[in-house]
Amino acid sequence: MKTKAIIFGVTGQDGSHLTDLLLSKNYEVIGVARRCSVDTTERIKDRLECPHFHLAEGDITDAHSVIGILKENDDVDEVYNLAAQSHVGISFKQPGLTWDITGKGCLNILQSLVDLEIDCRFYQASSSEMFGDSYSVDKDGKKYQDENTKFLPQSPYAIAKVAAHYMVRLFREAYGMHASAGILFNHEGERRGENFVTRKITRWISGYCSWLDRFHTSHNENILAFGKDEIYIRSRLDNDEGFEYPKLRLGNLDACRDWGYAGDYVEAMWAMLQQEHPDDYVICTGQTHSVREFLDYAFGYVGVTDWSNLVTIDPEFYRPAEVDYLCGNASKAKNRLGWVPKYGLEELVQTMMEHDLDVNLQSVS
Ligand code: NAP
Ligand code: GDD
Repeated sequence: MKTKAIIFGVTGQDGSHLTDLLLSKNYEVIGVARRCSVDTTERIKDRLECPHFHLAEGDITDAHSVIGILKENDDVDEVYNLAAQSHVGISFKQPGLTWDITGKGCLNILQSLVDLEIDCRFYQASSSEMFGDSYSVDKDGKKYQDENTKFLPQSPYAIAKVAAHYMVRLFREAYGMHASAGILFNHEGERRGENFVTRKITRWISGYCSWLDRFHTSHNENILAFGKDEIYIRSRLDNDEGFEYPKLRLGNLDACRDWGYAGDYVEAMWAMLQQEHPDDYVICTGQTHSVREFLDYAFGYVGVTDWSNLVTIDPEFYRPAEVDYLCGNASKAKNRLGWVPKYGLEELVQTMMEHDLDVNLQSVS
Protein backbone atom coordinates (compact mmCIF):
# COMPACT_ATOMS: atom_id res chain seq x y z
CA MET A 1 0.00 0.00 0.00
CA LYS A 2 1.23 3.47 -0.86
CA THR A 3 1.74 6.03 1.87
CA LYS A 4 -1.06 8.59 1.54
CA ALA A 5 -0.58 12.30 2.15
CA ILE A 6 -2.90 15.29 2.07
CA ILE A 7 -1.39 18.69 1.24
CA PHE A 8 -3.42 21.77 2.14
CA GLY A 9 -2.02 24.65 0.07
CA VAL A 10 -0.92 22.43 -2.81
CA THR A 11 -1.07 25.22 -5.41
CA GLY A 12 1.52 27.36 -3.59
CA GLN A 13 5.29 27.42 -3.94
CA ASP A 14 5.96 24.85 -1.21
CA GLY A 15 2.91 22.75 -2.03
CA SER A 16 4.21 22.18 -5.54
CA HIS A 17 7.73 21.25 -4.38
CA LEU A 18 6.33 18.94 -1.70
CA THR A 19 4.08 17.27 -4.27
CA ASP A 20 7.13 16.57 -6.44
CA LEU A 21 9.04 15.19 -3.47
CA LEU A 22 6.25 12.90 -2.20
CA LEU A 23 5.45 11.55 -5.68
CA SER A 24 9.16 10.81 -6.15
CA LYS A 25 8.92 8.79 -2.90
CA ASN A 26 6.02 6.79 -4.32
CA TYR A 27 3.28 8.42 -2.21
CA GLU A 28 -0.34 8.87 -3.14
CA VAL A 29 -0.98 12.61 -2.84
CA ILE A 30 -4.29 14.42 -2.31
CA GLY A 31 -3.78 18.12 -3.00
CA VAL A 32 -6.36 20.51 -1.61
CA ALA A 33 -7.04 23.63 -3.68
CA ARG A 34 -9.70 26.26 -3.11
CA ARG A 35 -12.17 27.34 -5.74
CA CYS A 36 -11.05 30.39 -7.66
CA SER A 37 -12.45 32.15 -10.75
CA VAL A 38 -9.15 31.56 -12.56
CA ASP A 39 -6.95 28.47 -12.72
CA THR A 40 -4.44 28.37 -9.84
CA THR A 41 -2.80 25.05 -10.73
CA GLU A 42 0.06 26.49 -12.84
CA ARG A 43 2.75 25.26 -10.42
CA ILE A 44 1.40 21.70 -10.37
CA LYS A 45 0.18 21.48 -13.97
CA ASP A 46 2.70 18.74 -14.78
CA ARG A 47 1.29 16.61 -11.97
CA LEU A 48 -2.39 16.81 -12.78
CA GLU A 49 -2.35 13.77 -15.07
CA CYS A 50 -0.32 11.65 -12.63
CA PRO A 51 -2.45 8.66 -11.48
CA HIS A 52 -1.12 8.99 -7.91
CA PHE A 53 -2.04 12.66 -7.60
CA HIS A 54 -5.62 13.82 -6.96
CA LEU A 55 -6.99 17.32 -6.56
CA ALA A 56 -9.66 17.90 -3.93
CA GLU A 57 -11.60 21.16 -3.73
CA GLY A 58 -11.66 22.72 -0.27
CA ASP A 59 -11.03 25.78 1.86
CA ILE A 60 -9.41 25.58 5.28
CA THR A 61 -11.53 28.43 6.63
CA ASP A 62 -14.56 26.19 6.18
CA ALA A 63 -14.50 23.41 8.79
CA HIS A 64 -17.23 21.50 6.90
CA SER A 65 -15.05 21.37 3.83
CA VAL A 66 -12.01 20.22 5.84
CA ILE A 67 -14.07 17.50 7.55
CA GLY A 68 -15.44 16.33 4.20
CA ILE A 69 -11.96 15.89 2.73
CA LEU A 70 -10.59 14.13 5.82
CA LYS A 71 -13.63 11.83 6.06
CA GLU A 72 -13.13 10.77 2.47
CA ASN A 73 -9.46 10.07 3.18
CA ASP A 74 -9.56 8.74 6.73
CA ASP A 75 -6.78 6.29 5.88
CA VAL A 76 -4.37 9.21 5.37
CA ASP A 77 -0.85 8.78 6.83
CA GLU A 78 0.49 12.34 6.69
CA VAL A 79 -1.28 15.71 6.58
CA TYR A 80 0.70 18.84 5.65
CA ASN A 81 -0.85 22.25 6.35
CA LEU A 82 0.88 24.71 4.02
CA ALA A 83 -2.23 26.80 3.34
CA ALA A 84 -2.00 30.44 4.37
CA GLN A 85 -2.48 34.04 3.41
CA SER A 86 1.30 34.14 3.43
CA HIS A 87 2.14 37.75 2.48
CA VAL A 88 3.21 39.77 5.53
CA GLY A 89 2.54 43.18 3.94
CA ILE A 90 -0.95 42.16 2.83
CA SER A 91 -1.73 40.88 6.34
CA PHE A 92 -1.75 44.51 7.55
CA LYS A 93 -4.44 45.33 4.98
CA GLN A 94 -6.44 42.12 5.42
CA PRO A 95 -5.84 41.13 9.05
CA GLY A 96 -9.20 39.41 9.53
CA LEU A 97 -8.83 37.22 6.46
CA THR A 98 -5.25 36.43 7.44
CA TRP A 99 -6.40 35.38 10.89
CA ASP A 100 -9.15 33.14 9.47
CA ILE A 101 -6.84 31.37 7.03
CA THR A 102 -3.40 31.43 8.63
CA GLY A 103 -4.51 31.07 12.25
CA LYS A 104 -7.92 29.44 12.51
CA GLY A 105 -7.44 27.30 9.40
CA CYS A 106 -4.86 25.26 11.26
CA LEU A 107 -7.26 24.72 14.17
CA ASN A 108 -9.95 23.55 11.73
CA ILE A 109 -7.65 20.79 10.50
CA LEU A 110 -6.33 19.76 13.93
CA GLN A 111 -9.78 19.63 15.54
CA SER A 112 -11.23 17.69 12.59
CA LEU A 113 -8.45 15.10 12.87
CA VAL A 114 -9.25 14.63 16.57
CA ASP A 115 -13.04 14.56 16.08
CA LEU A 116 -12.77 12.02 13.25
CA GLU A 117 -10.23 9.98 15.28
CA ILE A 118 -7.83 9.90 12.37
CA ASP A 119 -4.47 8.50 13.38
CA CYS A 120 -1.95 10.31 11.17
CA ARG A 121 1.08 12.58 11.35
CA PHE A 122 0.61 16.32 10.98
CA TYR A 123 2.93 19.07 9.75
CA GLN A 124 2.32 22.78 10.34
CA ALA A 125 4.10 25.47 8.31
CA SER A 126 5.28 27.77 11.09
CA SER A 127 7.46 30.76 10.27
CA SER A 128 10.54 32.72 11.30
CA GLU A 129 8.25 35.77 11.17
CA MET A 130 7.02 34.58 14.59
CA PHE A 131 10.34 35.76 16.08
CA GLY A 132 9.66 39.30 14.88
CA ASP A 133 12.00 41.61 16.74
CA SER A 134 13.42 38.92 18.99
CA TYR A 135 16.78 37.17 18.80
CA SER A 136 19.32 35.28 20.89
CA VAL A 137 23.04 36.09 21.00
CA ASP A 138 25.82 33.50 20.82
CA LYS A 139 29.17 33.59 22.61
CA ASP A 140 30.75 35.52 19.72
CA GLY A 141 28.04 38.16 19.87
CA LYS A 142 26.23 36.93 16.74
CA LYS A 143 22.46 37.38 16.74
CA TYR A 144 20.41 34.33 15.74
CA GLN A 145 17.06 32.62 16.24
CA ASP A 146 16.51 28.97 17.16
CA GLU A 147 13.82 26.82 18.82
CA ASN A 148 14.53 28.50 22.19
CA THR A 149 14.28 32.10 21.03
CA LYS A 150 11.09 33.78 22.27
CA PHE A 151 8.44 34.98 19.82
CA LEU A 152 7.75 38.70 19.41
CA PRO A 153 5.51 38.82 16.32
CA GLN A 154 5.35 42.10 14.35
CA SER A 155 2.42 41.56 11.96
CA PRO A 156 -1.11 40.12 11.84
CA TYR A 157 0.40 37.29 9.77
CA ALA A 158 3.00 36.49 12.42
CA ILE A 159 0.44 36.61 15.22
CA ALA A 160 -1.81 34.18 13.34
CA LYS A 161 1.20 31.89 12.81
CA VAL A 162 2.08 32.01 16.54
CA ALA A 163 -1.51 31.05 17.43
CA ALA A 164 -1.40 28.11 15.01
CA HIS A 165 2.04 27.10 16.31
CA TYR A 166 0.81 26.98 19.92
CA MET A 167 -2.28 25.08 18.78
CA VAL A 168 0.00 22.40 17.33
CA ARG A 169 1.88 22.12 20.63
CA LEU A 170 -1.42 21.91 22.52
CA PHE A 171 -2.80 19.12 20.32
CA ARG A 172 0.48 17.25 20.64
CA GLU A 173 0.35 17.43 24.43
CA ALA A 174 -3.41 17.21 25.00
CA TYR A 175 -4.30 14.49 22.49
CA GLY A 176 -0.94 12.80 21.92
CA MET A 177 -1.00 13.76 18.24
CA HIS A 178 2.10 13.28 16.13
CA ALA A 179 2.05 16.98 15.20
CA SER A 180 5.25 18.80 14.25
CA ALA A 181 5.93 22.40 13.27
CA GLY A 182 8.70 23.55 10.97
CA ILE A 183 9.81 27.08 11.82
CA LEU A 184 11.00 27.86 8.34
CA PHE A 185 13.01 30.93 7.45
CA ASN A 186 12.44 32.60 4.08
CA HIS A 187 12.75 30.21 1.18
CA GLU A 188 12.50 31.17 -2.42
CA GLY A 189 13.07 29.87 -5.91
CA GLU A 190 11.75 29.88 -9.44
CA ARG A 191 8.22 29.10 -8.23
CA ARG A 192 8.11 31.91 -5.65
CA GLY A 193 5.09 34.24 -5.69
CA GLU A 194 5.76 37.38 -7.72
CA ASN A 195 5.06 39.86 -4.92
CA PHE A 196 7.75 38.57 -2.56
CA VAL A 197 10.86 40.70 -2.72
CA THR A 198 13.34 38.18 -4.22
CA ARG A 199 11.10 37.16 -7.11
CA LYS A 200 9.98 40.73 -7.68
CA ILE A 201 13.66 41.61 -8.16
CA THR A 202 14.63 38.68 -10.41
CA ARG A 203 11.55 39.15 -12.60
CA TRP A 204 12.16 42.86 -12.93
CA ILE A 205 15.79 42.34 -13.94
CA SER A 206 14.86 39.80 -16.59
CA GLY A 207 12.17 42.15 -17.94
CA TYR A 208 14.68 44.98 -18.04
CA CYS A 209 17.21 42.81 -19.91
CA SER A 210 14.66 41.82 -22.53
CA TRP A 211 13.61 45.49 -22.91
CA LEU A 212 17.26 46.39 -23.62
CA ASP A 213 17.45 43.45 -26.05
CA ARG A 214 14.52 44.86 -28.02
CA PHE A 215 16.71 47.86 -28.80
CA HIS A 216 19.73 45.66 -29.48
CA THR A 217 21.54 47.26 -26.61
CA SER A 218 22.85 46.27 -23.20
CA HIS A 219 23.15 48.03 -19.85
CA ASN A 220 25.51 50.93 -20.30
CA GLU A 221 25.10 54.16 -18.34
CA ASN A 222 26.21 56.23 -21.34
CA ILE A 223 23.32 55.23 -23.55
CA LEU A 224 20.68 55.44 -20.80
CA ALA A 225 18.93 58.43 -19.26
CA PHE A 226 17.22 58.28 -15.88
CA GLY A 227 14.01 60.04 -14.90
CA LYS A 228 12.45 59.92 -11.45
CA ASP A 229 10.48 56.76 -12.14
CA GLU A 230 11.63 55.67 -15.61
CA ILE A 231 14.70 54.63 -17.53
CA TYR A 232 15.14 55.84 -21.14
CA ILE A 233 17.39 54.95 -24.03
CA ARG A 234 18.90 58.30 -25.08
CA SER A 235 19.05 57.70 -28.83
CA ARG A 236 15.40 56.64 -28.94
CA LEU A 237 13.94 59.45 -26.89
CA ASP A 238 11.94 61.04 -29.71
CA ASN A 239 10.65 58.35 -31.92
CA ASP A 240 10.27 54.81 -30.63
CA GLU A 241 7.35 53.36 -28.80
CA GLY A 242 8.30 51.54 -25.62
CA PHE A 243 11.50 53.53 -25.20
CA GLU A 244 10.92 53.93 -21.49
CA TYR A 245 10.97 51.28 -18.79
CA PRO A 246 9.59 51.72 -15.25
CA LYS A 247 12.19 51.54 -12.48
CA LEU A 248 12.06 48.74 -9.93
CA ARG A 249 9.96 50.04 -7.02
CA LEU A 250 10.87 48.65 -3.62
CA GLY A 251 10.40 49.43 0.08
CA ASN A 252 12.88 48.78 2.90
CA LEU A 253 16.25 47.66 1.52
CA ASP A 254 17.92 47.29 4.92
CA ALA A 255 15.90 44.36 6.26
CA CYS A 256 18.00 41.20 6.62
CA ARG A 257 16.67 37.75 5.80
CA ASP A 258 18.03 34.21 5.94
CA TRP A 259 17.11 33.10 2.41
CA GLY A 260 17.19 29.45 1.33
CA TYR A 261 15.85 27.38 -1.57
CA ALA A 262 12.28 26.03 -1.32
CA GLY A 263 13.19 22.66 -2.87
CA ASP A 264 15.62 22.04 0.01
CA TYR A 265 13.12 23.03 2.67
CA VAL A 266 10.31 20.62 1.73
CA GLU A 267 12.77 17.78 2.39
CA ALA A 268 12.96 18.97 6.00
CA MET A 269 9.14 18.98 6.26
CA TRP A 270 9.02 15.36 5.17
CA ALA A 271 11.91 14.37 7.45
CA MET A 272 10.08 15.80 10.49
CA LEU A 273 7.14 13.46 9.91
CA GLN A 274 9.44 10.43 9.65
CA GLN A 275 10.71 10.92 13.24
CA GLU A 276 9.45 8.67 16.00
CA HIS A 277 8.43 11.67 18.10
CA PRO A 278 6.86 14.94 16.95
CA ASP A 279 8.75 18.17 17.60
CA ASP A 280 9.45 21.71 16.38
CA TYR A 281 12.45 22.49 14.19
CA VAL A 282 14.07 25.66 12.85
CA ILE A 283 14.97 25.33 9.15
CA CYS A 284 17.32 27.90 7.66
CA THR A 285 20.74 28.43 6.08
CA GLY A 286 22.36 30.26 9.01
CA GLN A 287 23.40 33.13 6.72
CA THR A 288 21.67 36.49 6.59
CA HIS A 289 21.73 39.17 3.89
CA SER A 290 19.99 42.50 3.42
CA VAL A 291 17.60 43.18 0.53
CA ARG A 292 20.35 45.53 -0.71
CA GLU A 293 22.80 42.60 -0.84
CA PHE A 294 20.25 40.48 -2.68
CA LEU A 295 20.06 43.30 -5.24
CA ASP A 296 23.87 43.22 -5.55
CA TYR A 297 23.84 39.49 -6.28
CA ALA A 298 20.89 39.58 -8.68
CA PHE A 299 22.07 42.61 -10.67
CA GLY A 300 25.62 41.24 -10.53
CA TYR A 301 24.34 38.11 -12.29
CA VAL A 302 23.61 40.20 -15.41
CA GLY A 303 26.77 42.29 -15.06
CA VAL A 304 25.24 45.42 -13.51
CA THR A 305 27.45 46.64 -10.66
CA ASP A 306 25.69 49.92 -9.87
CA TRP A 307 21.90 49.53 -9.74
CA SER A 308 21.17 52.76 -7.86
CA ASN A 309 19.66 54.44 -10.94
CA LEU A 310 17.45 51.47 -11.71
CA VAL A 311 15.69 51.20 -8.35
CA THR A 312 13.34 53.68 -6.72
CA ILE A 313 12.09 53.62 -3.15
CA ASP A 314 8.32 53.60 -2.89
CA PRO A 315 6.83 54.09 0.60
CA GLU A 316 3.87 52.00 -0.54
CA PHE A 317 6.06 48.96 0.12
CA TYR A 318 7.02 49.97 3.64
CA ARG A 319 5.19 48.06 6.35
CA PRO A 320 3.59 49.59 9.46
CA ALA A 321 5.96 47.40 11.50
CA GLU A 322 9.05 45.69 10.12
CA VAL A 323 11.13 42.65 11.05
CA ASP A 324 14.69 43.93 10.72
CA TYR A 325 16.84 40.87 11.21
CA LEU A 326 16.33 37.14 10.73
CA CYS A 327 19.21 34.66 10.88
CA GLY A 328 18.46 31.12 11.96
CA ASN A 329 20.39 28.35 13.62
CA ALA A 330 19.34 24.92 12.31
CA SER A 331 21.64 22.80 14.53
CA LYS A 332 18.72 20.79 15.90
CA ALA A 333 17.51 19.89 12.40
CA LYS A 334 21.05 18.95 11.40
CA ASN A 335 21.58 16.73 14.45
CA ARG A 336 18.17 15.06 14.59
CA LEU A 337 16.97 15.05 10.98
CA GLY A 338 20.34 15.04 9.25
CA TRP A 339 19.05 18.02 7.28
CA VAL A 340 21.39 20.62 5.83
CA PRO A 341 20.61 23.13 3.07
CA LYS A 342 22.19 22.51 -0.33
CA TYR A 343 21.73 26.07 -1.64
CA GLY A 344 23.41 29.26 -0.46
CA LEU A 345 22.37 32.71 -1.63
CA GLU A 346 24.58 32.63 -4.71
CA GLU A 347 23.09 29.35 -5.99
CA LEU A 348 19.60 30.60 -5.14
CA VAL A 349 20.04 33.82 -7.12
CA GLN A 350 21.55 31.90 -10.02
CA THR A 351 18.59 29.48 -10.15
CA MET A 352 16.03 32.29 -10.02
CA MET A 353 17.82 34.51 -12.54
CA GLU A 354 18.40 31.65 -14.98
CA HIS A 355 14.74 30.72 -14.82
CA ASP A 356 13.36 34.24 -15.18
CA LEU A 357 15.75 35.19 -17.99
CA ASP A 358 14.76 32.00 -19.79
CA VAL A 359 11.03 32.67 -19.38
CA ASN A 360 11.47 36.17 -20.82
CA LEU A 361 13.48 34.82 -23.70
CA GLN A 362 10.70 32.34 -24.51
CA SER A 363 8.01 35.03 -24.36
CA VAL A 364 10.01 37.19 -26.80
CA SER A 365 10.87 34.45 -29.29
P1 NAP B 1 2.14 30.47 -0.98
O1 NAP B 1 2.90 30.27 -2.24
O2 NAP B 1 1.52 31.78 -0.70
O3 NAP B 1 1.02 29.31 -0.92
C1 NAP B 1 -0.05 29.39 -0.01
C2 NAP B 1 -1.05 28.30 -0.36
O4 NAP B 1 -2.16 28.40 0.54
C3 NAP B 1 -1.63 28.43 -1.78
O5 NAP B 1 -1.80 27.14 -2.32
C4 NAP B 1 -2.99 29.06 -1.51
O6 NAP B 1 -3.95 28.79 -2.51
C5 NAP B 1 -3.35 28.31 -0.23
N1 NAP B 1 -4.48 28.93 0.47
C6 NAP B 1 -4.64 30.23 0.81
N2 NAP B 1 -5.81 30.39 1.45
C7 NAP B 1 -6.41 29.18 1.49
C8 NAP B 1 -7.65 28.71 2.00
N3 NAP B 1 -8.51 29.54 2.60
N4 NAP B 1 -7.95 27.39 1.88
C9 NAP B 1 -7.09 26.55 1.26
N5 NAP B 1 -5.90 26.93 0.73
C10 NAP B 1 -5.58 28.24 0.85
O7 NAP B 1 3.08 30.13 0.27
P2 NAP B 1 4.43 29.25 0.33
O8 NAP B 1 5.57 30.15 0.15
O9 NAP B 1 4.24 28.04 -0.48
O10 NAP B 1 4.43 28.86 1.88
C11 NAP B 1 3.78 27.68 2.32
C12 NAP B 1 3.47 27.82 3.80
O11 NAP B 1 4.67 28.04 4.53
C13 NAP B 1 2.57 29.00 4.15
O12 NAP B 1 1.78 28.61 5.25
C14 NAP B 1 3.53 30.08 4.57
O13 NAP B 1 2.90 30.98 5.45
C15 NAP B 1 4.59 29.26 5.26
N6 NAP B 1 5.94 29.81 5.26
C16 NAP B 1 6.51 30.19 4.08
C17 NAP B 1 7.82 30.65 4.08
C18 NAP B 1 8.49 31.09 2.80
O14 NAP B 1 9.51 31.77 2.88
N7 NAP B 1 8.00 30.68 1.65
C19 NAP B 1 8.54 30.72 5.27
C20 NAP B 1 7.92 30.30 6.45
C21 NAP B 1 6.63 29.82 6.43
P3 NAP B 1 -4.18 29.79 -3.77
O15 NAP B 1 -3.23 29.29 -4.84
O16 NAP B 1 -5.60 29.57 -4.11
O17 NAP B 1 -3.87 31.17 -3.32
N1 GDD C 1 7.30 41.92 -0.62
C1 GDD C 1 8.12 42.98 -0.67
N2 GDD C 1 8.01 43.86 -1.71
N3 GDD C 1 9.04 43.13 0.30
C2 GDD C 1 9.87 44.20 0.22
C3 GDD C 1 9.81 45.11 -0.83
C4 GDD C 1 8.82 44.94 -1.84
O1 GDD C 1 8.70 45.71 -2.77
N4 GDD C 1 10.79 46.03 -0.64
C5 GDD C 1 11.44 45.70 0.47
N5 GDD C 1 10.89 44.59 1.02
C6 GDD C 1 11.31 43.95 2.27
C7 GDD C 1 10.17 43.67 3.24
O2 GDD C 1 9.83 44.87 3.95
C8 GDD C 1 10.83 42.60 4.11
O3 GDD C 1 11.64 43.22 5.10
C9 GDD C 1 11.74 41.85 3.15
O4 GDD C 1 11.85 42.67 1.96
C10 GDD C 1 11.20 40.48 2.74
O5 GDD C 1 9.86 40.63 2.31
P1 GDD C 1 9.05 39.41 1.63
O6 GDD C 1 9.81 38.89 0.50
O7 GDD C 1 7.66 39.90 1.41
O8 GDD C 1 9.11 38.28 2.75
P2 GDD C 1 8.81 38.33 4.32
O9 GDD C 1 10.11 38.13 5.02
O10 GDD C 1 8.00 39.49 4.71
O11 GDD C 1 7.89 37.04 4.51
C11 GDD C 1 8.21 35.80 3.90
O12 GDD C 1 9.01 35.02 4.75
C12 GDD C 1 8.37 34.62 5.97
C13 GDD C 1 9.41 33.82 6.77
O13 GDD C 1 10.26 34.67 7.46
C14 GDD C 1 6.89 35.09 3.54
O14 GDD C 1 7.18 33.98 2.73
C15 GDD C 1 6.17 34.62 4.79
O15 GDD C 1 5.06 33.81 4.41
C16 GDD C 1 7.15 33.79 5.62
O16 GDD C 1 6.53 33.32 6.79
